[in-house]
Amino acid sequence: MIINDFSKENSLISKYIFELRDVSIQKDSMRFRRNIERIGEIMSYEISKTLNYETVKVTTPLGEKEVYVPDNKIVLCSILRAGLPLHNGVLNYFDSVENAFISAYREHPNDDDDFEVIVSYLASPSIEGKTLILVDPMLATGKTLENVLEALKNHGKPKQIHILSVIGAKPGIEYVEKIFPADTHLWIAAVDDRLDSRGYIIPGLGDAGDLAYGDKL
Ligand code: URA
Repeated sequence: MIINDFSKENSLISKYIFELRDVSIQKDSMRFRRNIERIGEIMSYEISKTLNYETVKVTTPLGEKEVYVPDNKIVLCSILRAGLPLHNGVLNYFDSVENAFISAYREHPNDDDDFEVIVSYLASPSIEGKTLILVDPMLATGKTLENVLEALKNHGKPKQIHILSVIGAKPGIEYVEKIFPADTHLWIAAVDDRLDSRGYIIPGLGDAGDLAYGDKL
């Protein structure tokens, strides 16, 4: 796996991560969503440097010129619901991609900390031969991404996979490294060392879905 960890150099992303983590600032849900969206926009620009380009001729009012445009067919797939702000950020830059949505939730069969990830909804175009951008803002255990990869198998085999995450935990990153193809890119804004017994990233930022869209039952 090719890991692009944005926390290894100073950039505006560090400020957005600070605001996402801060227990007071993160209560402003509009700022929370927008900070995740901004991270998605910056990551999209970086991903664009890895794509294939073709030459096209553009006609301006005053003449013609050959320019380069990306020629990849891209499917952007997000995990509901926490993936939505990051999805929007990518869509702001890659405005004409195809979209896929998948819902995955943690089920606690024994009412304790153990959980299984259940995929209950998938709407996706074919991903055969395309560039797949998978959006999962909190890469905690890696089990969600594993289930998503499995669920997408009958939609084709992508040419290339990019995973976008805001915060990841080291154990989860190590887990996805083992199950995704070796040429998969992971774009991640911050990496924390560990998970708690419930599978939450420590210190992380809390529950990204609740912070973006409100509490659930
Ligand atoms: N999902 C979240 O929203 N936060 C975590 O820490 C882990 C999974």
